[in-house]
Amino acid sequence: MELDYRNPGLRLDQAKNATSGQIGWESPSNIAIIKYWGKYGDQLPRNPSLSFTLSNSLTRTSISYAPRIKGEPKTGLNLKFYFENKLNPDFSKRVEKFFSRLKDIFPFIEELDLEVHTENTFPHSSGIASSASGMSALAMCLCSMEQEIFGTLADPEEFLQKASYISRLGSGSACRSVYPGLVAWGKHQDLPPAADLYAVPLEETQIHPVFQSFHDDILIVSRGAKKVSSSVGHGLMDGNIYAENRYEQARRGFSELLECLQKGDVREFGEIAESEALTLHALMMTSRPPFILMEPESLAIIQQIQSYRESSGLPLYFTLDAGPNIHLLYPDEIAAEVDTWLRETLQPAIGSIQIIRDKIGTGPQRFA
Ligand code: DP6
Repeated sequence: MELDYRNPGLRLDQAKNATSGQIGWESPSNIAIIKYWGKYGDQLPRNPSLSFTLSNSLTRTSISYAPRIKGEPKTGLNLKFYFENKLNPDFSKRVEKFFSRLKDIFPFIEELDLEVHTENTFPHSSGIASSASGMSALAMCLCSMEQEIFGTLADPEEFLQKASYISRLGSGSACRSVYPGLVAWGKHQDLPPAADLYAVPLEETQIHPVFQSFHDDILIVSRGAKKVSSSVGHGLMDGNIYAENRYEQARRGFSELLECLQKGDVREFGEIAESEALTLHALMMTSRPPFILMEPESLAIIQQIQSYRESSGLPLYFTLDAGPNIHLLYPDEIAAEVDTWLRETLQPAIGSIQIIRDKIGTGPQRFA
């Protein structure tokens, strides 16, 4: 039976506990190795994807809630949205759109006055996608509100599954941020629990220790707004003549990646990661209209990574999201060498560049 979270019982006249309070969650961004690119229906992925949840690139969000004051309009949302302590109408619109999709799942959100405060630990204009951390932080807050008011989400597994499902409705990749470590989203025969409606974490036994402390250093090539929004990018896959082959490639890559994560094969992992990143960019280049999302520095950095790998024999790899920033992927055991290379070779070759040091992380944390 299809999972259906619609629940008309979650109205304040059914509340078991206090109907005002404050909830806060900090939730991380994630970096996909097998990329989600192409969607249909209600935020459903065209192919399975697999990512690392990060540790330092976080969104910190709190929601204060109180029952509507008598005489105020009883229908629709009443939401004030603050980003870095300032009312932010642009972000507010996106959050309102997200919340209005949830009114059959959380009917109580239309019976409350809501004030949302949010901030990112990474620089706002760094070009890092904040939708995964931002939408998952909101979803965690809403699920905690349900538990606080109605007591209906006490089971931690059910809580996270629902939070992942809700996150997906806000932004596809956000559903993976709810879990620690390596996380899969989208059904695949080699991972029976995997589903299109929510993400699932890989078990510890499926991940070789070398991948349990992996690094992701993000080299900020451009701080500007994205050239193409993810939604437009996903939409372009519908007319892309390579689409079906791409989805097949992702399914195969997913199988191969599961195998090398278990075996601890870092080189095979790196080859898959780079092929996925370049495929994502190739898909954008072959879309109508076509887009080039890399900058000259992106390519210069990629060449530096390749030549360092050749000369040192060390397993340093890269991936990219739908933008020009380069994510350096490497195991903890070569962290000192990579640090020296960054300072002594890369920075002098391409000029000073902002680097956000990140690592595989443990998932969202509640702070209020
Ligand atoms: C390239 O999750 O941002 O980062 O569902 O439209 O919000 P929407 O898209 P989004 O797409 C992310 C795509 C990607 C690859 C990935 O994270 O898997």
